[in-house]
Amino acid sequence: MKSDFLKYQTQTTAHPLAMEVSHANGSYIYDTNNKAYLDFVAGVSATPLGHNHPKVIGAIKEQLDKYLHVMVYGEYIQKPAVELAKLLAKNLPSTLENTYLVNSGTEAIEGALKLAKRATGRSELISAHNAYHGNTMGSMSVMGYEERKQAFRPLLPDIRFITFNNEEDLNLITSKTAGVLLETIQGGAGFIQPENGYLEKVKKRCVEVGALLILDEIQPGIGRTGKLFGFENYNCVPDILVMGKGLGGGMPIGAFTASSKLMSLLQQNPKLGHITTFGGHPVIAAAALATLKEITESNLMPLALEKEQLFRKLLVHPLIKEIRGIGLMLALMMPSETITNEVILKCQDEGLILFWLLFEPKAVRITPPLTISNDEIIKGCGIIIDILNTIDGE
Ligand SMILES: Cc1ncc(COP(=O)(O)O)c(C=O)c1O
Repeated sequence: MKSDFLKYQTQTTAHPLAMEVSHANGSYIYDTNNKAYLDFVAGVSATPLGHNHPKVIGAIKEQLDKYLHVMVYGEYIQKPAVELAKLLAKNLPSTLENTYLVNSGTEAIEGALKLAKRATGRSELISAHNAYHGNTMGSMSVMGYEERKQAFRPLLPDIRFITFNNEEDLNLITSKTAGVLLETIQGGAGFIQPENGYLEKVKKRCVEVGALLILDEIQPGIGRTGKLFGFENYNCVPDILVMGKGLGGGMPIGAFTASSKLMSLLQQNPKLGHITTFGGHPVIAAAALATLKEITESNLMPLALEKEQLFRKLLVHPLIKEIRGIGLMLALMMPSETITNEVILKCQDEGLILFWLLFEPKAVRITPPLTISNDEIIKGCGIIIDILNTIDGE
């Protein structure tokens, strides 16, 4: 299987981890030798309820027996998609009331950027250095990491970059700006949180100049920071909210939400302002609805903050220079890239899944399922400390 994987399936790195998956359950993934791996990554924040959660699987199976794809987005009334959009609205500030469901995070970013342009009649888009918003051409244009996009130029024109948390840069947001797109917590950059009311200040500046604030919650959203959406921690409501990953409970999804007034612009001048065949797919929407219900109706969100404290208590070691992040979106900062690699690879050998961040080579990602138990946290952190004890930090 491994040689076929390498031969027939396109690879994007020279050294994929190449674990051959047999099945997965709860906080564990099993390989084809039936070795169990404790999952501290959750499919890169995409499985907030762990693997094969009975409510998600039940919702999928129930919908499978009714219908799959029946019509392109937005024409027919399909209960799972309607109920999902309604439940999102119920859990969001009143201005975020209307949701467009798409197939992936990057597509939701594309939709949000288009909406900002359409709503303001302006073309300039602003995002942050070291930002990651996806890999299609529009999202890549607002990616703040030149090395990974140079080869694909020309990309979108009229893009400017500001430095996250730098208040002086807010002057770059002007009456020419259609939208300012920021990750609520910068993910790929190293789990960097907004400081000193930064997001509030960005929003204020956007209001002053008539630009729209778009917050990318594809990673922090869906309970990971102890709130349903990260922005709830920072007293700032975006004009457009973008989500993905965890919303699908392990199924592919993206969504953007705004006021009904803004979203109605996608109906006219031009009509069909954003279209998709599979967005709002009934099986995926059913899985997302079950996930969202479970997260909003259980105590998983407050528990995420308690579990963060447990991680912080257990992960004390001279080689851990800092633990960044909030809730179950944590990054261990290592002294060097070499040590990061060593920790991730050796932990995998010991049956613990960790992962990298996109642009910060010294960070080790810890984003477990929200359902992870305290015993599992204690076990996984024990493995990390044991491995760190074997590493020469000099
Ligand atoms: C903050 C952020 N935005 C956008 C995306 C793109 O989402 P997708 O991979 O579903 O297109 C990601 C994916 O990692 C992300 O972390």
